[in-house]
Amino acid sequence: MNILVNLRGMARHAPSGRAILSNVDLVIRSDEKLALLGPNGAGKTTLLRMLAGLVPPSAGRAGLGSLDLFSKLDRKKAPTLAGLVFAHTDDQLLQSTVLEEVALGPLNLGKSPLQAKELSLRLLEQFHLSGHAMQSPFELSSGEKKRLALASILAMEPKLLLLDEPTHYLDQRGKRSLVETLKGWNGALIVATHEPAFARSICQRVAVMDEGQIAFDGCWEDLEKDPNFLEIHGVEPVGNLPVFSGDLDPNHGIGNNLTHSEIGGMMGPMPKAKWGG
Ligand SMILES: Nc1ncnc2c1ncn2[C@@H]1O[C@H](COP(=O)(O)OP(=O)(O)OP(=O)(O)O)[C@@H](O)[C@H]1O
Ligand SMILES: [Mg+2]
Repeated sequence: MNILVNLRGMARHAPSGRAILSNVDLVIRSDEKLALLGPNGAGKTTLLRMLAGLVPPSAGRAGLGSLDLFSKLDRKKAPTLAGLVFAHTDDQLLQSTVLEEVALGPLNLGKSPLQAKELSLRLLEQFHLSGHAMQSPFELSSGEKKRLALASILAMEPKLLLLDEPTHYLDQRGKRSLVETLKGWNGALIVATHEPAFARSICQRVAVMDEGQIAFDGCWEDLEKDPNFLEIHGVEPVGNLPVFSGDLDPNHGIGNNLTHSEIGGMMGPMPKAKWGG
């Protein structure tokens, strides 16, 4: 499998000069799923934002596929490869309807309005949001917004999915449903979370960040051999936590579902592309 993420000695400094990330070595193949753990302020979100092209690295090497994230031009292209679902979904949702929110990415990537609509309708169905297609994203509940944000990113068919605290606001069924979705995901994944049991049910590989550095990178069994290490880096041993299992409830979240043709008939003009493919 190809290498998708290639960080070598990568650092990122705040405008004040303070190192937020330092000496990060991280190589991820195009089919690999990585859980990113670590205490508050460790640098997890900053790392995801850097990989999504939202903030530049400041030292070392930072490759994403064929892109060099030091290049401003390449950072603009990063969304074609890496899709980030923000921890706070309100920062991510832009459009006036749920359907347009999902369709925006595919349109920006050059899909025709019909293709974008069909793909969006499929994703809304998968994420049990069909009944909300014509609503404003801001009318949704927090958990529904989370599902919408993920659907919008998946609509762009990224090679690397970056999830920042994806279980935030999700109820237990929502979490189990997310586990199933992510187990079926064939691309690369980095999931930053404070829920190791959730992450373990999806990812074979786990990294622990602390103070901007990767303190551990390996398998769960090795991570848990040293309780002292977990304690020092503020990570809860997974053995103490309930395990997530796939138990997808097909009726979860569905209310007043509309058919595809009903939604299609109601949908007005498609949103304009915000950035070129
Ligand atoms: N633009 C910035 N300027 C200055 N400091 C910043 C900036 N962005 C992030 N930081 C700092 O970098 C550190 C890492 O932040 P980050 O959000 O990446 O942590 P995190 O691991 O995601 O934490 P949490 O688990 O709380 O989400 C924090 O101390 C934060 O205050
Ligand atoms: Mg964070």
